[in-house]
Amino acid sequence: MSHQPLSVVVLISGSGSNLQAIIDATANDPSTKVAAVISNRDDAYGLERARTAGIETRVLNHKPYPSREAYDQALIELIDSFQPGLVTLAGFMRILSPLFVQHYQGRLLNIHPSLLPKHKGLHTHQRALEAGDRIHGASVHFVTEELDGGPVILQAQVPVKADDTEEQLAARVLQQEHIIYPQVIRWFAEGRIAMNGSQLEMDEKPLDGPVIRGCPL
Ligand code: GAR
Repeated sequence: MSHQPLSVVVLISGSGSNLQAIIDATANDPSTKVAAVISNRDDAYGLERARTAGIETRVLNHKPYPSREAYDQALIELIDSFQPGLVTLAGFMRILSPLFVQHYQGRLLNIHPSLLPKHKGLHTHQRALEAGDRIHGASVHFVTEELDGGPVILQAQVPVKADDTEEQLAARVLQQEHIIYPQVIRWFAEGRIAMNGSQLEMDEKPLDGPVIRGCPL
């Protein structure tokens, strides 16, 4: 039985290393196709990565828009012109309006560099160090109206070492991000994860806590 591949639009603002991991993972996977990469910044290095991979790119600068809603409405129109089955935020550094989130409810994923619900928002690695956390990590979750608050599907843990700098810890987390984001996208493409109302389901059963990829030594 052959299905149409899952069409994915990836939103970025910066380096796009998660985008690269998604591109690499989907290159030889007929179930998933990156249809377009959209950035709110024209200097995002991820745009280069997409062009190199032969993927369509668009820049939609937020600055000329009078309000968050006006920008998000334009972004919805741009994204929908690619008819995606899934929208993934990969270092897209903007707060999204309820209008946007509701439009993509159940097909909008984000990766966040902490073990949610810990350290929502910015500067997560610095905050994990300051809090004396022994274990830190990253989370992939469905996006809901609550910032960094949607149901977490998969988390990767990493150890925090006694002499870690913020940069060292960030690099250790990022390495794991590159594993867990493609994994969740694969699960989505296979129909293994879904939102049923506000309930996260895996293999058609409620999943009340994330799947955890344990701490590598
Ligand atoms: C990643 O660490 C991602 O988790 C984080 O931005 C970085 C983007 O890196 N996202 C957030 O902080 C979202 N609140 P990348 O551009 O190299 O993928």
